Amino acid sequence: MISKNIRFVLAFVALTFATALATPSYATEDAIKYRKGVMKAVGGTMGSLAAIMKGKASMSHAPALSQAMVQLSKVVPDVFPEGSGGNDTAAKDNIWAEKDKFAAAVKGFQTAAMNISKASGDKAAFGAAFKALGGSCGGCHKPFRKPKK
Ligand code: HEC
Repeated sequence: MISKNIRFVLAFVALTFATALATPSYATEDAIKYRKGVMKAVGGTMGSLAAIMKGKASMSHAPALSQAMVQLSKVVPDVFPEGSGGNDTAAKDNIWAEKDKFAAAVKGFQTAAMNISKASGDKAAFGAAFKALGGSCGGCHKPFRKPKK
């Protein structure tokens, strides 16, 4: 009798977890905080790449840091869930209205990150790829991020 009940409870728990995994849905507040953290990591990595570009840090770090940017760029499309706009974020609502345009901005960033990871080592190529990467940030911030208050 008891074991039957336990089996029922276990099945219920398993089902609940399976549902949670299949349709992840996070609190808006958490989604915004998470996105800002990911963007801070993108910003920090960019700052480090800038230091290398200016000759203020070792070019030997360029491969690892540009790879970090490639990895971060894979997460970026997932940190803008539907409904994570509002007053507590600098993300503009047109992100969810102009989906194709936003997807193109994400893609531009991913491509630029990939390109700088291939250019590491050669100073001139690295400089050009860094400039393009910087352009891809602006390519999204300009249309999709609220101006600083
Ligand atoms: C596809 C769009 C997109 C791309 C590409 C992008 N960003 Fe952002 N970024 C945003 C949005 C939108 C916000 C506002 C996030 C929020 O407030 O929730 C943001 C916020 C930030 C922030 C502030 C985070 C904070 O503390 O709140 C930094 C720093 C940043 N981005 C750096 C960068 C850099 C550097 C690049 C390029 C290497 C980049 N971003 C590429 C859309 C993008």
